[in-house]
Amino acid sequence: MLRPALDIVVSALEQIREQSDRTPSASREIVAQLFQSPTRVPTQSRNDPLQQLAAEVFSCTRCPHLVRSRTQTVFGVGNPDADLMFVGEAPGADEDSQGEPFVGRAGQLLTRIIETMGFSRENVYIANVLKCRPDTPAGTSGNRAPTPVEMQTCLPYLRRQIETIQPKVLVALGAVAVEGLLGTRGAMREMRGRWHSFNETPLMITYHPAYLLRNQSPSEKRKVWEDMLLVLERLGSPISARQRNYFL
Ligand code: URA
Repeated sequence: MLRPALDIVVSALEQIREQSDRTPSASREIVAQLFQSPTRVPTQSRNDPLQQLAAEVFSCTRCPHLVRSRTQTVFGVGNPDADLMFVGEAPGADEDSQGEPFVGRAGQLLTRIIETMGFSRENVYIANVLKCRPDTPAGTSGNRAPTPVEMQTCLPYLRRQIETIQPKVLVALGAVAVEGLLGTRGAMREMRGRWHSFNETPLMITYHPAYLLRNQSPSEKRKVWEDMLLVLERLGSPISARQRNYFL
């Protein structure tokens, strides 16, 4: 949905002024650019709880250090009525710049997994525990894992996102997503491939696609695919012989 960029920025600045003792400001050049460009940001609609939540996340200032470092928040993408929802860790540099989860290398692998399952990014839902990219020291590259405090702070958004979408099956990608959803830290090799539950929604735990990029062994890739076959069975989706024998 399109809403003039300037309106959004003004309401975010007003919110920062109300909620903190900082005096927010925007430069003349930025204001001039915003005047010219409508941008793709969530509109607040009382009839659409997911859009309303997205608007709240958009102007969130709960972690001031992440507000300072982020390009934008990364809310989620896909079908608001999806049966299947994937939960990752946090946006990385690519997601921070594009405003969409899982668009970097790990995201491309996730997209391939989703498509091999017979779905698309548009008919599942993809989100992260954290909605902001964890900051990294200036001049360094790479991403860092969220801290427990950052996760606790951001988790209410993910919980509301799940409550609103009401997926039939959740997939937690990696140990950080598991910690966010279940509050437990465990060995991935023991937790993956088994059904868990998040507020009565069946939850499958599997490896994060970034792990598969680091560890190219066919047996690890096959494990993720076997986890996805369990998900397809649980959703009642037909599984072809080709899918059964597939190796990522
Ligand atoms: N890794 C994640 O956990 N989430 C993203 O959005 C991208 C990479």
